[in-house]
Amino acid sequence: MSPKPITVDDYEEYARRSLRKSVYDYYRSGAEDQQTLADNVAAFSRYRLYPRVLRDVSATDLSTTILGQKISMPICVGSTAMQRMAHPDGETATARACRAVGTGMMLSSWATSSIEEVAEAAPDSLRWMQLYIYKDRNLTKSLVQRAERSGYKAIFLTVDTPYLGRRLADVRNKFQLPPHLRMKNFDTEELAFSSKQGYGEDSGLAVYVAQAIDPSINWNDIEWLRGITSLPIIVKGIVRADDAKEAVKRGVSAILVSNHGARQLDGVPATIDVLQEITEAVDGKVEVYLDGGIRKGTDVLKALALGARAVFVGRPALWGLAYQGEEGVKDVLNILMEEFRLAMSLAGCCSVSEIDKSLVRKSHFSSRL
Ligand SMILES: Cc1cc2nc3c(=O)[nH]c(=O)nc-3n(C[C@H](O)[C@H](O)[C@H](O)COP(=O)(O)O)c2cc1C
Repeated sequence: MSPKPITVDDYEEYARRSLRKSVYDYYRSGAEDQQTLADNVAAFSRYRLYPRVLRDVSATDLSTTILGQKISMPICVGSTAMQRMAHPDGETATARACRAVGTGMMLSSWATSSIEEVAEAAPDSLRWMQLYIYKDRNLTKSLVQRAERSGYKAIFLTVDTPYLGRRLADVRNKFQLPPHLRMKNFDTEELAFSSKQGYGEDSGLAVYVAQAIDPSINWNDIEWLRGITSLPIIVKGIVRADDAKEAVKRGVSAILVSNHGARQLDGVPATIDVLQEITEAVDGKVEVYLDGGIRKGTDVLKALALGARAVFVGRPALWGLAYQGEEGVKDVLNILMEEFRLAMSLAGCCSVSEIDKSLVRKSHFSSRL
């Protein structure tokens, strides 16, 4: 028996060996040449930490808040689609793991568990809904209203996906859901991305998006969304300071700096490289979060030092799920928590409020990763 994994990368290695190839490829891949995929991770090593010493770090508190909701640590689980391909319990296991660890989970519109199933599986957990705007606005509205009724605390509107990025492995694998699974938030075979539908020679998901998702969405849709829900609206997928400012002007409650885990436009910067200019542009008016390439506690420390209030992890939770469902996701979150606690303590901080930008500087030598 192989030794128990002790890092996020160990969990990925297990997932690589155990998942079906087309599933692992779907989870792992970035778009096109995957330039940004590699950079999302490598970019963190271009930042160097400048710890303070002799600060009594015998007691640490990792807790913080997101939009006023308390979380045990500034590390949350981001929305990744179709989690039942990794484990039969899928999103319900992720929600339970997040509740156990005391953090929040963002549920994908494309989950293989419904909004209501996830709420029932972890009723008192902190959950947010990720939203794709469908061409069918009534359908979109019903997703939002179901989330609101089921106790989700915010809508994360994904703004970087008018079309699906071209993920070459998915094209080659003609990626589809396995026959026993559906996108559970939808009734019709067509909208549920059922394998009974034909998707031709392409990535099935790319075909699905082209058919169903509205590529005409624009800044005015924030107003439209506000008209149908009283939940806070967060834009997910900002990489430019001017877009961040526009989002603030449009009244969003927070911004998630994200390049969709490098799965949309290839060649965009690593998210950590644009974080500081965005937090400076936003100037404290709304909370700013980051996702993309977080694999270690020191990555979290660097993101917080550059102005993020919290970070989200996508793939790491999938690797945990593939290992052992709820327990596996808990393991991964606990590893990140303890790594972050150690990084924070070694940097001389007892609480997240003591993390500031003096702790980190960009180094000009290139990383070896
Ligand atoms: C397999 C997979 C599925 C994803 N599905 C969605 C989705 O349904 N909606 C969405 O807004 N983002 C989706 N994302 C993007 C994630 O929310 C997040 O931005 C990204 O995974 C963060 O990068 P990381 O995986 O390096 O942590 C997905 C990412 C992956 C890897």
